Amino acid sequence: MRSEETPPTKGRLRRTIRALTNSLRAQLFAWVVLTLIGAICVNLYLSFRTADATAKLVTDRTLLASARVIAEAVRVDASGTVQSDIPPAALEMFDTGYGDRVFYQVVTAWGNLVAGFPDMSRPKRDMIGEDRTFRSDGVRMLMLSHPVVGLDQDGTISVAVAVTHNSQYAMRRRLWLSDFTKQLALVLIAGLVTILGLQRGLSPVLRLRDAVRERGRQRLDPLEPDMVQSELRPLVHALNDHMERVQNQMAAQRRFVSNAAHQLRTPLALISTQASVAARETDDRNRDEALAALRSSTRHVTRLASQLLTLSRAEPGSRRPRNDTIDLADTARQVLQTLAEEALRRNIDLGLEADETPVRVEGDGTMLREMLVNLVDNALRYTQPDGRVTVGVGREGDTALLWVEDNGPGIPEAERGQVFERFYRIMGTEPEGSGLGLAIVREVVDGAGGSVTLADAVGGGLLVSVRLPAV
Ligand SMILES: Nc1ncnc2c1ncn2[C@@H]1O[C@H](COP(=O)(O)OP(=O)(O)O)[C@@H](O)[C@H]1O
Ligand SMILES: [Mg+2]
Repeated sequence: MRSEETPPTKGRLRRTIRALTNSLRAQLFAWVVLTLIGAICVNLYLSFRTADATAKLVTDRTLLASARVIAEAVRVDASGTVQSDIPPAALEMFDTGYGDRVFYQVVTAWGNLVAGFPDMSRPKRDMIGEDRTFRSDGVRMLMLSHPVVGLDQDGTISVAVAVTHNSQYAMRRRLWLSDFTKQLALVLIAGLVTILGLQRGLSPVLRLRDAVRERGRQRLDPLEPDMVQSELRPLVHALNDHMERVQNQMAAQRRFVSNAAHQLRTPLALISTQASVAARETDDRNRDEALAALRSSTRHVTRLASQLLTLSRAEPGSRRPRNDTIDLADTARQVLQTLAEEALRRNIDLGLEADETPVRVEGDGTMLREMLVNLVDNALRYTQPDGRVTVGVGREGDTALLWVEDNGPGIPEAERGQVFERFYRIMGTEPEGSGLGLAIVREVVDGAGGSVTLADAVGGGLLVSVRLPAV
């Protein structure tokens, strides 16, 4: 059954979103834009509050002025009656073209209505504006207590004036808009400058990306560190280091392939000649000799090929590293068993020095075994007949120790570094070989996190010591 496919547009959208969230530029821009939007919202709110407070203040001032004019007009006549003659100017000051309506009320301290609307409720406090509702209209209202000459008892009257909100709201809108546009312009300019700065700041990174991307597979020459800012130069240096390593590795690989081909060509040419000789030979004895030589050459090529294969397997990254726990003493016993015949043939005394206690190490079991085979094979190969080869296994604290000692010719100190190189053989070495054995040993030991050293054995010969972390 086919699983349900996502519609192409949905998939594309998801890809785009993923590309954006992965992009440094998009992320930085998103942060700037989000900050800008946040700043604009806060600014919107704050400038509204300021505009509202200012509009209220201005309205209250006008209300106070109007109340004062009304209060000034209150008189007490000769008969003691309180009279008020509201001057038109007191109400005209609200005539700002927004169609506001004005209400007022004048009462004496003992509650007698002198003028105005009887049903107006008055604010609790003097000279402080309040938002109220009067006859289903929202109004701004203010009250003023004022002394009147000639009044007996408590000689004050109180004047309350209220005005509908039209003019106040219009003023608030105007103030808000002008304040907001000014701040908006500032925020936008700051945002644009930031985005431009980001663009400029990021452009070297993008240039670096393009420079790396443009390079073909073969171009590994260093990048110019000056093309990016100082903070990014370590990255360019690291890239350059990496490319240099790759370059060296590629060169080594090329050398290895050409060496290997060369090493294989010579014995293969020999095999071809030997085969022709054997085919031409009529004498049985001579033909048997030619065939024996052919077999020996074939063995040599086969061994060379298998050594090449082992070396390529021992290289880091060539296969998934195995983490076996193996007993070195047990491995040594097995290896000695397989090589016992060869030792017997050359009449070499091949022995093992190991306790019963296991010496465990972690690593690739097959490769560790291959390493030991190569060491013992060398010892058997380069030690003269009737010689002695000893393999030892032991522990030194946290280190597992494996050594192979022989009483052969040994390796001169000057050569000890080079013999680990691939295809390197000491000049004049008689028994045939490939020069890969010790290279395999080093590769395996490195892979297992250990070390290998060459030294003189007591009484001549070579002592190879391998140290591995024990478990
Ligand atoms: N046990 C040893 N005694 C003396 N010389 C040795 C011994 N092991 C290695 N060598 C020298 O080191 C060289 C490199 O060894 P190796 O890498 O195993 O290659 P190969 O054995 O195929 O020549 C050998 O050619 C030999 O000259
Ligand atoms: Mg060898």
